Amino acid sequence: MELSILLIMVLLSILVLSVFFVLQLWYTPKSMEVIPGSLGWPIIGESLPFISEFSSPSGIYSFMNKRQQRYGKVFKTLVLGRFTVFMTGREASKSLLTGKDGMVSLNLFYTGQQVLGPTSLLQTTGEAHKRLRRLIAEPLSIEGLKKYFHFIDTLSIETLEQWSGRTVFVLEEASTFTLKVIGNMIMSLEPSGEEQEKFRANFKLISSSFASLPFKIPGTAFYRGIKARDRMYSMLDSTISKRRNGDEFRQDFLESLVMKHSKARGGEEQDDGDEDKLTDQQLKDNILTLLVAGHDTTTAALTWLIKFLGENPPVLERLREEHKQIQANRNYGPNLTWSAVNNMPYTAKVISETLRRATILPWFSRKAAQDFEIDGYKIKKGWSVNLDVVSIHHDSEVFPNPEQFDPSRFDVPLKPLSFLGFGSGQRMCPGINLAKLEISIFIHHLVCRYNWRPLEKDDAVQPTLVRMPKNKYPIVVEPL
Ligand code: HEM
Repeated sequence: MELSILLIMVLLSILVLSVFFVLQLWYTPKSMEVIPGSLGWPIIGESLPFISEFSSPSGIYSFMNKRQQRYGKVFKTLVLGRFTVFMTGREASKSLLTGKDGMVSLNLFYTGQQVLGPTSLLQTTGEAHKRLRRLIAEPLSIEGLKKYFHFIDTLSIETLEQWSGRTVFVLEEASTFTLKVIGNMIMSLEPSGEEQEKFRANFKLISSSFASLPFKIPGTAFYRGIKARDRMYSMLDSTISKRRNGDEFRQDFLESLVMKHSKARGGEEQDDGDEDKLTDQQLKDNILTLLVAGHDTTTAALTWLIKFLGENPPVLERLREEHKQIQANRNYGPNLTWSAVNNMPYTAKVISETLRRATILPWFSRKAAQDFEIDGYKIKKGWSVNLDVVSIHHDSEVFPNPEQFDPSRFDVPLKPLSFLGFGSGQRMCPGINLAKLEISIFIHHLVCRYNWRPLEKDDAVQPTLVRMPKNKYPIVVEPL
């Protein structure tokens, strides 16, 4: 009896594996055969080692490194449900990031495409993309950000005062801080109160839906994300209509877009022919895009930076010297000045080294919009092509002893495209000035007034698209 059960199970396993094998052959693009690499198991491909190595302290570096040693700088794989070609190096960066406009587009997951909407900056290409970038460039420029400086400065001081003498999870605190900053910048949200709570709750649901399964049925994270997006859009609709009717005037991002760059009455039912103006749908999709693209990244960067400082006392000491000098140069009070925040050379290097060492976005995902050739390989229209940034940031020829946290690497200018903390080319991060401003101000108040010690040593990483410490970096904070 037992033998026959065993036999049936073996036969069933052979049958299931054969079906998978046939499916694999059927699904695999024939043209990909010339690209070296392995597609792993049928259907799931190499997703399991990819996810498990993603969460390890070295991140996907070990996954990439093993395959690059075996196959070279360009290899194919099947991860997270996609046949993908990974590539690395400055040549690949040049083609994928700064190459011919329209050769590749961003490759969002289905959930991200649905939540952000079709007119999001992340889903446009060519002229439409350039136009959107022009519209957001001015309010995100250094001069454009000056009007939010006081808010960020005061919020940093107040946030840190609540840390003193307590145990805090830096990742959670950084998330609250960066969301308050962007909420205020976009639509003048007060840092506390009912509106802030609603904004935060909706944003959290939207954010979690990106890495969810794509089933839009009640109860799923994806469904909750879409509903939260709709509530967020209703909040924006009511603010936009108040601004248009003149019931409310604020000096924020929304005001500048509504007054200077939006079509009259939303432009949905009438076309005034002005291509340089946005409909309300475009406005909302792109405000949400800025929130989504700017929040987790800045939160992660601030958390990693505080963690790296905690692990590297000589760097902390040198950074503290820079900030104590700034503190000594001002006449009174804890507040920073605008000129001081724009003159923090060592801090700028610490930020860059944090982005190199942590590589918050470990790969940049693209879809080939046309056939092209790269490193001698033909890439076909429609393929997913990922630039492996972790390997670029850990290239020992450019960054000797790459695992070490050493901001002095940035004392000398680097070769173009060897550091991609904020990306490069047409899709380079438009939020770079805001991110640097928030981090520099917060770090100034942290190192001038407080000491901290980590509560545990854990280098594991969350298995999310943006790399963050898994334990949220718990610390105890004391006044200096
Ligand atoms: C330290 C914080 C940040 C880091 C490390 C970061 C990193 C990046 C990187 C590497 C890219 C390029 C990705 C690619 O080429 O695939 C990017 C794009 C982008 N970032 Fe950031 N970012 C940060 C903060 C922000 C902020 C604060 C905002 C918004 C206010 C923002 C908005 C965007 C947008 C909209 C894009 C897409 C640009 C496009 O497709 O044209 N980012 N970011």
